[in-house]
Amino acid sequence: MIPDKQSPIAVFDSGAGGLSVLAALKRFMPCEDYIFLGDRKNAPYGDKSHDEIRRISLENAGMLFGMGAKALVIACNTATAAAVDTVREAFPQYAVIGIEPAVKPAFEAGCRRIAVLATPRTVSEDRFSRLLRSYGNQYGGQAFGIGCRGLATMIEENTVSADYFTKLWKEHFGDGFPDGIVLGCTHYPFASDVIKDSLPEGIPVFDGADGTARQTCRRLGEAGLLTENAAKGRILMPCDDGFLAAFWKTHCPAYQ
Ligand code: DGL
Repeated sequence: MIPDKQSPIAVFDSGAGGLSVLAALKRFMPCEDYIFLGDRKNAPYGDKSHDEIRRISLENAGMLFGMGAKALVIACNTATAAAVDTVREAFPQYAVIGIEPAVKPAFEAGCRRIAVLATPRTVSEDRFSRLLRSYGNQYGGQAFGIGCRGLATMIEENTVSADYFTKLWKEHFGDGFPDGIVLGCTHYPFASDVIKDSLPEGIPVFDGADGTARQTCRRLGEAGLLTENAAKGRILMPCDDGFLAAFWKTHCPAYQ
């Protein structure tokens, strides 16, 4: 299929986390149509192997381009770290945008000892370690990846408490704290109030959703593929049993 201005933008994640990116996309490009795949049958991605994530990501991309998407946003740090290059190679005719943890904005805001919370799979990926090392060298600071097993599922089940994070800081920083936190999984912004409650006042928390939406808008603009519609776009959620639609309504009320 040839990408067309009026075609939808596809977005996928293992579940509800990608809705934090969809919200940012809606903020930057409200008139676009979106297909949101929350791949809950394969969730959680964070406990799977590199090869499994690559296979799943290729399958999702094939399905979404098959549905007529003009571009793909991988709204998942795990799938981006493990598979964005593979998906780009398999679909060279399309813009494929991945999410990058907001380590650069955190360094640029003056943080020098940064904790990047992500899934165990993400922190094991070379792409992720390279990114942290390269910004650390560039800005003269350090960013540490911390794998948070089970956290994405707890967020979907609404069972996460500040205790989880208090223990995490104690385990990794003793009585101290990092001076900036990056949420390197798209589920985690939905727990940002709880995370802030577990931290001393003034420690900033960053996520990559706005950067991803800005990059998507820029790529579509360069390709002449931004919609000409002036009315609010539609969102299609294939394979959803109602969970994602309800989560979207509750957690992102501004974008209904
Ligand atoms: N939301 C995903 C991420 O950004 C994955 C969560 C999971 O399924 O483990 O990494």
